[in-house]
Amino acid sequence: MSQFIDPALVPKVKLYTGEEIPCIGMGTFGSDRFTPEQVSAAVGGAIRCGYRMFDCAACYGNEAQIGQVFQAAFDEGVAERKDLYIMTKVWNDMHERVEESCRKSIADLRCGYVDLFFIHWPFPNYHAPGCDVDSRNPDSKPFDPERFLNTYRQCEELVRKGLIKSIGISNMTIPKLEAVLPGMEIKPVACEMELHPCFQQQELFDYLVAHGIQPIGFMPIGSPTRPERDMMPEDVADIQLPEMKAIAEAHGIHPAVVALKWAVQRGQIPIPFSVKENEYVSNLRCTTEDPLTEEEMAVIATLERNNRLVKGQVFLWEGAKDWHDLWDEDGYIVK
Ligand SMILES: NC(=O)c1ccc[n+]([C@@H]2O[C@H](COP(=O)([O-])OP(=O)(O)OC[C@H]3O[C@@H](n4cnc5c(N)ncnc54)[C@H](OP(=O)(O)O)[C@@H]3O)[C@@H](O)[C@H]2O)c1
Repeated sequence: MSQFIDPALVPKVKLYTGEEIPCIGMGTFGSDRFTPEQVSAAVGGAIRCGYRMFDCAACYGNEAQIGQVFQAAFDEGVAERKDLYIMTKVWNDMHERVEESCRKSIADLRCGYVDLFFIHWPFPNYHAPGCDVDSRNPDSKPFDPERFLNTYRQCEELVRKGLIKSIGISNMTIPKLEAVLPGMEIKPVACEMELHPCFQQQELFDYLVAHGIQPIGFMPIGSPTRPERDMMPEDVADIQLPEMKAIAEAHGIHPAVVALKWAVQRGQIPIPFSVKENEYVSNLRCTTEDPLTEEEMAVIATLERNNRLVKGQVFLWEGAKDWHDLWDEDGYIVK
């Protein structure tokens, strides 16, 4: 079977700006398990297979290596810059120096401009990469709408300067959005959020769609290779559920691919990660053929287990009860 999927065959999603972008992208977080070289090699392979959307971040520590791969693809005529949809994010320690962070990502990624630039987390609470889940930074503070908008306004400036095309938010909640949306001049085009069969965030999903903000789903397969520190005994493995296995068998595919088909058909943009060529090729191809039936979609809708995998403990502030405080589960911003 050919390893090339014509990007023109990959369905598109229309943003409120009218721009059309691929219905699937590739993630680039190495999860402490894969080196920057392994991740960038996968990105290089993925461009050659027909991927056109990549989810990067300053804090993944691999943008310079990915930039080399983008440059090689441009030089070899595999793709032009305008054909790629490149996303990256400002990390928590740069909320007051957003332009500096953006310029560094652009230089590292060798991409000239960013298509979609996210505020990775809605507060500047910093923790050292790879630190233990019990570590706390005494400078961490609860979410503050004005402080967030100060960071957001710097992103709006980047749009005006032509450094980025669109702004995205990530790891948000409805109460936080309610507090900041009225203060924005340029509405975000997308919200990156955890989405997989056992964590569907239906209420937030519906809220975003109603506001014309495109949901982008991270950990779409349930992140089986996530860092040890993010694994809890109570977590459910999406791709091991009997319902997922049965649907996979009916289609002759891996349950991981079922999760991606479900994501695309539901309307979120999944950004799966893999360094294995056979996996990332089937992840892209699955958007072009053999959709799930309505019955199968309905079965997966019942798999919701409220199983949040990225709990965010390391961002907690002094006085916070536990990680639930980060997610405003009672409908108001926890301070
Ligand atoms: N905004 C945020 O705060 C945030 C947070 C987390 C992640 N993200 C983004 O979301 C991306 C995806 O999340 P993730 O990488 O944690 O999780 P994921 O995409 O749900 O899972 C990745 C793992 O799934 C397995 N896999 C992938 N394709 C497969 C296939 N076709 N068949 C079988 N197994 C397959 C691979 O594991 P094996 O090695 O076992 O095959 C791979 O390492 C990240 O890379 C990052 O870009 C964003």
